[in-house]
Amino acid sequence: MRVNFAVRQMQFKDVPAVLAIERQSFGMPWTRQMFEDEVHQDLAWRQVAQNDSEGVAGFLLGREYPDAWHLMDLAVAPRARRRGAADSLVAAFVAAADQAERPVFLEVRPKNAEAMALYEKWGFTAVGLRKRYYTDTGEDALVMMRPVGAAGPGAGDPGAAGAARGGIDGRRRLRGPLLAIESSCDDSSAAVLSPDGDVLSNVVHSQDAIHERYGGVVPEVASRAHVERMTAVVREALAQAGAGATDLGGVAVTVGPGLIGALLVGVQTAKAIAWAHRLPLFPVNHLHGHLAAVWLADHDAPLPMVTLVASGGHTSLVGVDDWTSFRLLGQTLDDAAGEAFDKGARLLGLGYPGGRELDRLAEEGDPKAFAFPVALKRSPRPDFSFSGVKTALFYLLRDMSAEERAARAADVAASYREAIVEALVSKSVKAAKAEGARSLGVAGGVAANSLLRRRLVERGEAAGLHVVVPPFAYCTDNAAMIGAAALAGPSLPYPDYLDVDPSASLPLGRWSTLPDSHP
Ligand code: KG4
Ligand code: ZN
Repeated sequence: MRVNFAVRQMQFKDVPAVLAIERQSFGMPWTRQMFEDEVHQDLAWRQVAQNDSEGVAGFLLGREYPDAWHLMDLAVAPRARRRGAADSLVAAFVAAADQAERPVFLEVRPKNAEAMALYEKWGFTAVGLRKRYYTDTGEDALVMMRPVGAAGPGAGDPGAAGAARGGIDGRRRLRGPLLAIESSCDDSSAAVLSPDGDVLSNVVHSQDAIHERYGGVVPEVASRAHVERMTAVVREALAQAGAGATDLGGVAVTVGPGLIGALLVGVQTAKAIAWAHRLPLFPVNHLHGHLAAVWLADHDAPLPMVTLVASGGHTSLVGVDDWTSFRLLGQTLDDAAGEAFDKGARLLGLGYPGGRELDRLAEEGDPKAFAFPVALKRSPRPDFSFSGVKTALFYLLRDMSAEERAARAADVAASYREAIVEALVSKSVKAAKAEGARSLGVAGGVAANSLLRRRLVERGEAAGLHVVVPPFAYCTDNAAMIGAAALAGPSLPYPDYLDVDPSASLPLGRWSTLPDSHP
């Protein structure tokens, strides 16, 4: 006999009835606490089937994860079985999943033939095994999946769901805030962004004090320091954003390029958090992160844009056609601009990393005191070279007496900075004009340089360009920019990202080493 059951939202007062059905149905039942938690869970799907004479006869608990829905628990009271209660519950759930255009996953005991038959009827098929999933018996779980719009008895209109599918828009894919993690070099950073891209927190733990005594970043030391700090940095970012791990809608992480041991720490941390909470993972190219710092600072900058990325590790000019299409226009043929500043600072006896010290000293000197070579000045290509200017500085200082070196330090610093900045600015403005760009952006630690900031605005605006110089916090390595890039880029659904590995040499334009991870 089939009796119609009405399906409605589970409420707190239903928990005793639901718990009784659960205990009658499973050898390893959920606890009362688990059900009470579900009633308060934002992503929870929770419905009961009932009719007037019998009260609550069954229930279904699910989760609406951003990338896929999950059927977690379905049970019907023994007295009410085979009368359509389970069908009513599953029908409501899969219809809503179709509406949301999400596939549905579930785990079932392979011995539970009756449940498998029910799910197959509703369009689920077996897609894999989870080894030793059931801790009571050590049994494997069979994973079943129902694609969007799969046929079923009364599964709704699959055509309508398909037609509603939109283009790529990261903002629409997130149900909660995005946690972003960056560990490609010597800064451990975590940030939380709202699904709309607002930065809710951005915590950076710099390792400068650790590497100072070596005068440079020591990869093994960096990776150990990331291990020691990352958990605290993530916890702090969540706390400052007022978010818990269970609130998150996704996790973004830098997968390359960078120091492999350092990248590994961030990637494993991100994977673990995403996996534990069944969230999608957003793999991010570190360079895309630097480029995103520009639109994090000015979301309305007109495109196309040319952005100068100048840091301790890279110096390149990138054409940004939209927030996911990048073209490498030119780059340094030898040292990075930050490296040239740091090496110059070292020759001048300043601290580590010396870029900022050299910049400060240069503010007091005469930039015309010494003529340093501006490399590739006449070359039409938007490339850079900084080894010549560094060598010139070495010989200049070598030929000075100790007194002269001390007396002229500010003039030397100012002239040296002038040559580097002139190369960066003239090549950037030239490339932007040649590309027909409307905006000119700058990113990377060297964007903190005061002369570079001034001159880029001056010359860029004179050339009719909209110039974006992000705040310092978004110029040096930070996780907020990684989150901003992630929101425009591709994501991998749970649990497809377990094979994502970091890549020390990930090229511009690639989001991860997986072939299918392009937007
Ligand atoms: O982007 P970043 O934090 O890390 C890398 O990805 O390399 O950049 C750090 C670099 C260092 O070389 C540092 O000396 C340089 O940025 N830097 C500066 C200034 N502040 C930081 N270079 C010139 N002038 C500055 N004010
Ligand atoms: Zn960087």
